[in-house]
Amino acid sequence: MSNQPARTSGSVLPPYLEGIYAPVVDEVDADHLAVVGRLPDELAGLFAQNGPNPSFPPGVGHSWFDGDGMVHGVEVRDGVASYRNRFVATPGLAEDRAAGAATYVGSLAGPGAGRRHKNVSNTDVVFHAGRLLSLWWEGGLPYELTLPGLDTIGPCDFGGTLTLGMTSHVKVDHRTGELFFFDWATRAPCLQVGVIGADGMLAGSRPVELPGPRVQHDIALTDRYVLVFDLSMSLDPARRSDPTIGFRFDDELPSRIGLVDRALAGDSPVRWFEIEPCWIWHTLCAWDDGDEVVLCGARIGSPTRVDKHGRSHEDLPMVDDE
Ligand SMILES: [Fe+2]
Repeated sequence: MSNQPARTSGSVLPPYLEGIYAPVVDEVDADHLAVVGRLPDELAGLFAQNGPNPSFPPGVGHSWFDGDGMVHGVEVRDGVASYRNRFVATPGLAEDRAAGAATYVGSLAGPGAGRRHKNVSNTDVVFHAGRLLSLWWEGGLPYELTLPGLDTIGPCDFGGTLTLGMTSHVKVDHRTGELFFFDWATRAPCLQVGVIGADGMLAGSRPVELPGPRVQHDIALTDRYVLVFDLSMSLDPARRSDPTIGFRFDDELPSRIGLVDRALAGDSPVRWFEIEPCWIWHTLCAWDDGDEVVLCGARIGSPTRVDKHGRSHEDLPMVDDE
């Protein structure tokens, strides 16, 4: 079988969907993989990875963030390794399969181009409270997968307790068993933080008021705080038909890091600390150091091709990372 989706007549796939980057259409079970050397008997578990994998040639405005989620897993047990991969069986994927074609437009499509915001559950995967969950960066319900089969059980609302969306980059405290997450929106309060307890039920949530719709992608966790971000990247839902996701970097907007007490009491003030205007896709780690909090992450000074002044990357100064 071909390992690439059939093209529609005259369609041109973007380069990140061609050749070795081509989507995988087959769901495979491969037992007794060839092993170079020897797997220790004590090593047992499943390594799982999620990523975008379009099941059909993409429609208008496709970006590499838009493909259907596919989870790959390598299981090691009793000195033997096996592999399997499965699409995350979302309702959007079922609609595409029923139509025999992509039925949603991509995140680069302009307003009015068609149906959008398909929860493809393609961004991350996390194991928590006995559940393997696949997650999507825009937020929404995660999908629970079987272990070790990786088949989709369905959307997970944590026993009906989840009252807000869950984005892809959650943080699990392996000492307490808590899973911290966030949800973001274009309307006030624009950001909410929540925690799933070790029992797999929502244990709390609180709003974090922001001055406007700021793009969100990650948080960080210390023993005392959830670190949240009010960065200089706005979301412009009324953007023109430019090929952008609607992110608008404005270096005249202050960037701030907020410390939210982990108890998530709604009346507990968020302590904000201003930093040089920037954007941060991902954090690495954070910890308390006496009265200070240390955060490791990747700061980007010019995160969009063109900023609000029309200046391109080459015109903008680098952010000093010291
Ligand atoms: Fe990410």
